[in-house]
This record gives sequence, C-alpha cells and structure tokens, in this order.
Amino acid sequence: MALIPSPFPLAVLPTPLVRAHRLEQALGCGPVLVKRDDLIGFSCAGNKARPLEYLLGAARTEGCDVLVTGGGPGSNFCQAAAVAARTAGLDCVLVVPGASPAVLSPNLAMARACGARLHFTGEDREFVDAAVEAVASDLAAEGRRPLPLPRGGSTPVGALGFAMAARELAGQLDTLGMEPEAIVVATGSGGTQAGLVAGLRGLAKNWRLIGASVSRPVDEISARVLDIARGCARHHGSWELPRPEHVEVVDARGPGFGIPSAGDTRFARLAMETEGLVLDATYTAKSFRVTAELLQSGTPGPVVFWHTGGLVPAVAAFTQVRNT
Ligand SMILES: Cc1ncc(COP(=O)(O)O)c(C=O)c1O
Repeated sequence: MALIPSPFPLAVLPTPLVRAHRLEQALGCGPVLVKRDDLIGFSCAGNKARPLEYLLGAARTEGCDVLVTGGGPGSNFCQAAAVAARTAGLDCVLVVPGASPAVLSPNLAMARACGARLHFTGEDREFVDAAVEAVASDLAAEGRRPLPLPRGGSTPVGALGFAMAARELAGQLDTLGMEPEAIVVATGSGGTQAGLVAGLRGLAKNWRLIGASVSRPVDEISARVLDIARGCARHHGSWELPRPEHVEVVDARGPGFGIPSAGDTRFARLAMETEGLVLDATYTAKSFRVTAELLQSGTPGPVVFWHTGGLVPAVAAFTQVRNT
C-alpha cells in the first residue's frame, strides 16, 4: 500500500531538459542533455525543492509548526529549507556547526532574512544531526510541534521527490526518443541519488546512474544511498527494492569538500562559456567534471548531466572577481 504524503507544492515542474550542442562540440562527443534543476522555480533551492515538497507535505499532515534542521555554514539546503518553511507557514530553526561568525554566508544570510533562527553549536559538523534532535526536543518541551530533519533532508520521505523526478526525466527522454547511456548527479548527503535509484527501480529502467560524491568516501555514501533508496521504495510499497548493484558512486572530492580541483574549475569555465551554465565549486563543478571526463573517455551519448543548483554560492563567487 502506498504511503506517499501529498507534496506541498514549491517547484515549477517539469524542469527543462535541454540539449547542450555547443558543449558537445567543445568536448567532441555525442548528445549531452542538461536537466535544469537549477531553474526549479522556487527561490534558489535547486535540487532541494523536490525533497522539501514531500517533507513539508508530511509535516503539515502531522500538524508540525516548526522545521528544525541543520548543515554547514554554506549549506544550500539550510537556505532552501528556511524559505520553504516560511512558504508553508512554519517557523524554522537551523543548527550550524562552529561558532557564530562575524559575517554570514550568503545562504545563511538569506535563511535569516526570511525568519529562520540560527543556532550555532560551537561543535564539529558530525554533531549537527544530534543537535537538531536536541533542539527539537527542547521545542517540544515548550509545547511546539517540531519536525526535525537530518542534514540535506535526506530521508526516505524526502527522497520521494527525486523518485518522482526519475519519472519526470523518463517522460522527457521518451518525448525526445532517447535512452541515456548515463545520468550524472552530485551526491552529498545522498537523498538526491537515493530518490533517483528508487524511482528508476520503480520504472524498471536499468539506466546507468552515477553519483559524484563530493564529501564522503565511496563505500560510506554508497551504503547510505542504498539505505535511503530502500526506505523510499518501501514508502511506495510496490516498487522493486534497490540492491547494491543499483548504486554507482565515484569519488569526486578531489582536494576536499568545497575545494575545487584545477579540472573542476576548467570544466566549470567551459560549461559557462559554451552553455551559460552557472556551476558552484562544492557540488555541480565536481559532478560536471565527472560528466565531461566520462564523455571524453569515450562513453557515447546521450549522457544527462543533472544540474542540481547551488546558485547562491556560485553567484556569490562572481562578486569576488577582480577587474583585471
Ligand atoms: C547544489 C547541490 N547539489 C547536489 C547536492 C547533493 O544532494 P544530496 O545531499 O541529496 O546528496 C546538494 C546538497 O546540498 C546541493 O546543494
């Protein structure tokens, strides 16, 4: 039996699927399609609008009045969650590791501007999810109805947003009469890839899906993606349960989380110069490099590059360019 909450609408769907002819020419490769979740039509939320629709749908059904979540100081998810909570009429508390900084990141500044309360833990990043639970318990003790969410909103319910996105992509590819050789997506906390894995199983599509891991070792994030994907499939009830062979992750961390390699920067520039794609250093520059290298190493098209957004830090980076 299906256990799917009604989504709270945020995104303008479907997002465009566009052919990147100039990029194909520059790379000397077969068809490249870009799934433009950077143009998702809800604030600057990018890929995170999709899970938030299902998470907020569930929160409203349960009568929650405050969303509690967290992430690193530059988190795109925190910004997206804060704006989405406001749109759904919920308050929002964001748990952020470390000390309260003198200057907020653009994402946290946006979150606070739309009413989110920022709670700096003074501790490391790995304690954020526990701190989210602790803040939620304190709020419950005060009589509030909190919805605690782990970093990235990467839960089986959140992943439903991307399971539905797999269906959306399949419909668009069908219209174009194309079958992809590969789909590449940036993987951080794992919910995006997990939802796609679950959705592709639900459609019985054996398409190659590659998660470009930007923050965790391959074994760790693969296990996590599988776990969330299986939880997501169980929500639906009649989808085939994903297995380990359905989860493919490559290590795209390079010099480290949030630090672009020379290749990341070079290919991000190419994406901008050929197609006007704005890529961020933490997620999409890394997943795009994986896509470009895949094509250059002889994988025939069509390959789908899933542009997951990251627009706030990407645009902010342009404010630091010197006029030389
Ligand atoms: C721009 C962007 N792309 C990709 C991801 C990865 O998504 P997930 O955390 O669901 O793996 C994130 C996560 O915050 C993101 O902000």
